[in-house]
Amino acid sequence: MGLQGVDAFSPGLLLITIHQPRDQYLNQPCSTQEKNTEEIHSKSSTAILGATGTIGRALARRLVRHGHEVLLVGRNEEKLRSLSEELGQPFVAVDLTSSAPLEQALREVAAARGGMHALVNCIGSILLKPADATTDDEFRQVVEANLFTAFATIRVGAKLLRDRGGTIILFASAAAEIGLKNHEAIAAAKAGVIGLARSAAATYAANNIRVNVVSPGLVRSELTRRIWENSASAAASAQMHALGRLGEPEHVASLAYWLLEAENDWITGQVIGIDGGLGHVVPRR
Ligand SMILES: NC(=O)c1ccc[n+]([C@@H]2O[C@H](COP(=O)([O-])OP(=O)(O)OC[C@H]3O[C@@H](n4cnc5c(N)ncnc54)[C@H](OP(=O)(O)O)[C@@H]3O)[C@@H](O)[C@H]2O)c1
Repeated sequence: MGLQGVDAFSPGLLLITIHQPRDQYLNQPCSTQEKNTEEIHSKSSTAILGATGTIGRALARRLVRHGHEVLLVGRNEEKLRSLSEELGQPFVAVDLTSSAPLEQALREVAAARGGMHALVNCIGSILLKPADATTDDEFRQVVEANLFTAFATIRVGAKLLRDRGGTIILFASAAAEIGLKNHEAIAAAKAGVIGLARSAAATYAANNIRVNVVSPGLVRSELTRRIWENSASAAASAQMHALGRLGEPEHVASLAYWLLEAENDWITGQVIGIDGGLGHVVPRR
């Protein structure tokens, strides 16, 4: 059973579907200038979890533009199909509350493509509430979306990449390392991601698996739309960043892409802020 297959059974009796794009020829967005750049080392294959999110999409587009293969992974089949047709790349819709379907889907694609090189988990949610107003269910949902999926990414990535090495990127947040009001739930989950990544970097270094964390400040995405669409809260938020402006999805996709590049393969266990200074620089007054 390869990529062309519709349904795939594993010995574990899971049924998953790996969707191929209808129009492979749609995979042609490289401009002449981009084609001629020196930065394309080789064709790599990256699974993007949360590919339908703003930053996930930006990274998927960037990778494909530069000649790489991606597997689009998410929970919303309609959004995945549309992105898959745009990029000419396969997708799989899986429930990430269990890592077994994810593992099976990635194994299928890796087998068909002759290996998988990287996993990037762009899944995340936001909850801005003080701890005393946060319900158990709300906290569980935040942990599930942000930390559980990161753990599943590590667990599956470790199994998939351990023979040939590779790279895993997780997403934290500047809120994990500085005290921001009303960020208790998300700060706790994202701090967990950082601890997870550092430990996994140590465990799997012997397998040449690099694990790094991208840690954004406030970036204009669907996640934060309510903040940046309101001019007063956008201005107040921008002033919390030393550079005085919010980030764009392309800033973050660019850093993740750089971490994936083969020549940057001496970096592991790092938490790299892409945050206009939010994490470590006192803002101007
Ligand atoms: N934007 C920021 O300012 C900011 C700041 C700090 C950290 N981050 C982190 O950066 C990463 C990318 O965020 P983004 O700005 O691109 O956010 P986004 O546009 O809202 O995308 C979030 C993605 O996560 C998926 N998702 C959410 N909850 C899920 C769940 N329970 N199970 C499976 N998938 C789930 C969404 O799926 P659907 O498409 O199906 O909804 C979407 O693909 C996240 O880890 C986020 O925490 C972002």
